[in-house]
Amino acid sequence: MPRLALSWGFVVFGRGFRAPPSSCAGDAGIGRMIVGGASGSAHRRREEGLIRHLGLSNVDAATGPTGRHVVDLALRSGDQVTALVRHPAALGDLADQVTLLAGDATSRRDVSTALAGQDAVVAALGRGNSVVADDLFAHSSAALIAAAGETDVSRLVWLSSFGVGHTFAWASGPQKVIYRTLLRAIYANKEIADDSIRSSGLDWTVVYPTRLTHGPSKGAYRAADRLPMKVNPTISRADAAAFMHRAAHGSEWIRRSAVISD
Ligand SMILES: NC(=O)c1ccc[n+]([C@@H]2O[C@H](COP(=O)([O-])OP(=O)(O)OC[C@H]3O[C@@H](n4cnc5c(N)ncnc54)[C@H](OP(=O)(O)O)[C@@H]3O)[C@@H](O)[C@H]2O)c1
Repeated sequence: MPRLALSWGFVVFGRGFRAPPSSCAGDAGIGRMIVGGASGSAHRRREEGLIRHLGLSNVDAATGPTGRHVVDLALRSGDQVTALVRHPAALGDLADQVTLLAGDATSRRDVSTALAGQDAVVAALGRGNSVVADDLFAHSSAALIAAAGETDVSRLVWLSSFGVGHTFAWASGPQKVIYRTLLRAIYANKEIADDSIRSSGLDWTVVYPTRLTHGPSKGAYRAADRLPMKVNPTISRADAAAFMHRAAHGSEWIRRSAVISD
């Protein structure tokens, strides 16, 4: 059984986690792990730049951070999960289903402890409603890259935001206004993190979702290296989590940046 370790922001896949040998086989494997199977037609749509995860509407429409959705999906798909959390009580009913580690994602020592013996990590760290970065992304990416080197964990799926770094150029006018003002400090710090991850030598995937909602999984969204934008589109945290979980289990998105949106 695959084993997964998680913090609220970090999800670390444990020993037994196996990346499929090819993207095609990966689709089949991921389909089985996530609720019942991606069809051949889903594979064709992915090739057209549109990914549909069939059956995800069965997942509870839980509200909360993206990391929680990743954990829910991971547990449902049979992964074993370890949680690195600052506030263990926040795990609620998930606490008895994961291995719990109290710690901070910006601490190299804490992250190394979480990664030891694991196979892959998914990071969904965030600053909540704050517009102050507090160096979270720069510091946590540095801790993670160092810890990954110490523990021989090479697979990393990292949640960024559409509009950060090179993706800013593809933003719509309304998006650019928001990114240049309200989110300016957060985005600057995320850009430092994303750049270090891309140059880390790890098997990274950096994920760029558009505006996140607390809505249920629609089971359908777009994912591509680049997507056209109109106004300020959204994607649910549930669907963003589904993409991250799927990407972590497959090889298709290794060393690629993925823009995801409804
Ligand atoms: N909101 C949007 O429209 C939008 C759009 C695109 C991308 N994003 C990005 O998506 C990401 C996730 O956003 P979200 O709203 O799902 O989550 P979020 O509310 O920002 O929470 C992220 C989690 O990170 C944890 N965290 C923060 N600092 C930590 C630290 N030092 N050590 C350990 N854990 C830490 C927090 O745990 P604690 O309980 O300990 O605080 C929190 O549970 C963010 O990076 C955000 O910028 C957001």
